[in-house]
Amino acid sequence: MSTPEGWELVCIGCGSEAGTELPDSTCRRCGDLLEVRVTKDIDRRTFFSGEGPGIWRFKQTLPFAPDVEPVSLEEGGTPLVRTNRFATRVGLHKLYAKNDGQNPTGSFKDRGMSAAVTRAKTLGSKALICASTGNTAASLAAYAAKAGIDAVVVVPKAGVASGKLGQAFAYGARVFEVEGNFDQALATVFDLVRKDDRFYLMNSVNPFRIEGQKITAYEIYEQLASVPDYVVLPVGNAGNISAIWKGFKELRKWGVVDSMPKMIGVQAEGAAPLAAALSSGKPFQPLKEPRTVASAIRIGNPVSWKKAISAIGESGGRAAVVSDAEIMEAKRRLSQEEGLLVEAASAAPFAALIKLNLPREASVVCIATGNGLKDLSDHGGNHVIESAVDSDSIASSIGSRP
Ligand code: F0G
Repeated sequence: MSTPEGWELVCIGCGSEAGTELPDSTCRRCGDLLEVRVTKDIDRRTFFSGEGPGIWRFKQTLPFAPDVEPVSLEEGGTPLVRTNRFATRVGLHKLYAKNDGQNPTGSFKDRGMSAAVTRAKTLGSKALICASTGNTAASLAAYAAKAGIDAVVVVPKAGVASGKLGQAFAYGARVFEVEGNFDQALATVFDLVRKDDRFYLMNSVNPFRIEGQKITAYEIYEQLASVPDYVVLPVGNAGNISAIWKGFKELRKWGVVDSMPKMIGVQAEGAAPLAAALSSGKPFQPLKEPRTVASAIRIGNPVSWKKAISAIGESGGRAAVVSDAEIMEAKRRLSQEEGLLVEAASAAPFAALIKLNLPREASVVCIATGNGLKDLSDHGGNHVIESAVDSDSIASSIGSRP
């Protein structure tokens, strides 16, 4: 599968350009992950003044020929919101939430999906497929609809938020479930794409997904007018941490920035194979039965673990682990003290701040990866509808905010 002029697809393991076993999948020679690399010049003077919908204003940094028509829903460009009350609680001065729940389908997946569905369209793909804990499914379904290509999503039997499944159905995807968790769903998808070349793989093993998601780094730099000291984000299949780090590395390579953030990847206690490898110094071992309330990151065998370990290591960052109780407490505080309704996985980086003890003067960006409206099953706090017997019973409620 060729890349346009000015780009190459390289294996991160053996460094070869040997080609792929499947379109835009893993290296044919050694089976490792692929990465898109740019070989042409990037003009830093016009870096932030490009035109186009969503991520496509950075088109010069995306691996597409100039005449390719993007499949876009105007993804990206999400707000960077200062969260002062939470900051005070965790002893920080400059804490920001990159509110990716405001993307077209309500999660960070949309930047990468725009790029990868555009790629699929240029290849003439007949059907797009992914395994998902919910958000990738919703995003794929929407972008496939926009492109006029069939979408198939494979989800674990239990635990996918009803709002995310509802989105996939609404956008017209076929939805299949497997016994077991996300890792089994992804294994099933791999099995199918190997056997049937009508299906194009849309999980974040696809390097074109990473190309779209790297734009998050450009946006953060542009919004802050500086590079933050830390970027803290939840890690599931480990695509986003790899993508954002790639974005910052490119900004440095092209002379747009000269400092770099430390990347902190946060996993839930019962689903933390990457954090376990990093803290023990032992080789990465997948976890058989990941468990956490944060269903989006309930993943035991993150496909991009190597890229994530590089991102954390190269940036001088670290991995952090948070309990389900800590996640839910952070989620409650974000909604009730900041007006920011995120899903459980997206509260994990905020939960981690409580114990990370980052320097008070550091500027810290947490990626709020997904919108809490997709999953209201765990909204906690006061969910009792009180009976308005008379106007006095309502009047008595004043000042009783939790
Ligand atoms: N946050 C949310 C809300 C997610 O949906 C995911 C992943 C992550 C964080 C972790 O990102 O996988 O790039 O490390 N969700 C995938 C899905 C697995 O199928 O929607 P990652």
